[in-house]
Amino acid sequence: MIRLIKPYITFDEVKNEFQDVFESGWFTKGKYVEDFRNTIKSYTGAKNAFLTTSATTALTMSLKILNIKKDDEVIISDFSFPATANVVEDLEAIPIFCDVSLETFNMNPNDLEKKITSKTKAVIFVDALGNPTGINEIKSICKKYNLPLIEDAACAIGSSENNLKCGNIADLTCFSFHPRKLLTTGEGGAITTNNEKYADLLDIKLNHGAIVNDGKFDFIDYGYNYRMSELQAIMGIKQLTKLDDIVKSRNSIRNLFTQKLIKIGFQEQKINKDTIYNVQSLVFKVPSNINRDDLIYHLKLNNIESTIGTYSLSATSYYKNKYNDIQENSYYLENNTITLPCYENLDTKKVCDFISRYIENVR
Ligand SMILES: Cc1ncc(COP(=O)(O)O)c(C=O)c1O
Repeated sequence: MIRLIKPYITFDEVKNEFQDVFESGWFTKGKYVEDFRNTIKSYTGAKNAFLTTSATTALTMSLKILNIKKDDEVIISDFSFPATANVVEDLEAIPIFCDVSLETFNMNPNDLEKKITSKTKAVIFVDALGNPTGINEIKSICKKYNLPLIEDAACAIGSSENNLKCGNIADLTCFSFHPRKLLTTGEGGAITTNNEKYADLLDIKLNHGAIVNDGKFDFIDYGYNYRMSELQAIMGIKQLTKLDDIVKSRNSIRNLFTQKLIKIGFQEQKINKDTIYNVQSLVFKVPSNINRDDLIYHLKLNNIESTIGTYSLSATSYYKNKYNDIQENSYYLENNTITLPCYENLDTKKVCDFISRYIENVR
């Protein structure tokens, strides 16, 4: 089976440090967690970094320190994984679905401006499939309306726009280190921010609401434990140091696929010329006469794994039933995009040849 993704980490790379942790018995809040936080700061250029158990908990903590509460409106990109909406819903706030561009798959700035009201308290921009194209334009709109911008960069570690890495653009950026991502710690996530007030609040919230006074804990707020362990942090450090090379290699594979597939009617996800896209997912719009689900099915029969692009959140059963506000472009993309395998030493010829033959037969 040609798998969709392979991890960029082996046991050999981590075994010495894992041994160190087992021998010391120091499994949490130790030097590797500190080291991973510092590596994320220097890699992204962000002033502060916090590690979490997932992007979902990172997003929840970000909304909490922004004091998002019942009936507040949070505008979110509609083409995403449901976690982007769920974290808003969980706080009894209202997710306002913003449609996306059919070219970049990212938040449409005109639709965003139309949806801002006096109840809007924050905006969540999603780097769809890892592509941050357009985030700087959204940032300017948020500035104009004095709204905090959260970047759901669950898929976007290693991406950048205008020479700024994801993590150093929005007010708060949330990453995922789930195994489908370029950098994995099994499960895990991170939040970065350049805002010192947000950093102080996150420090407290992520540590059970505690500050340390004269060596003693003082619980000045209620809080959480969404901490990453030392073993996970070791995995993260190892991958972050080679991430830029991984991004380059994925872009060459993307170019190979793009050259071949656009000739037979596929359309690529557009990126700005000043954007670096980490190609977390290699996604194409399928030709208009092709049934995307049939293509996925036939690829599977031929031992090639593929999947849909991602979801239109407003069209998922829960959000459709509750808000009945399906976003047109995003819905189109959910039904007409395909994610193909993308990693080093992949037999791209085999995948492209199969797709070409399939398209010819259908036509
Ligand atoms: C855009 C987006 N946001 C949030 C998440 C949730 O990430 P996690 O599994 O780390 O909570 C995902 C997961 O795929 C995602 O793609």
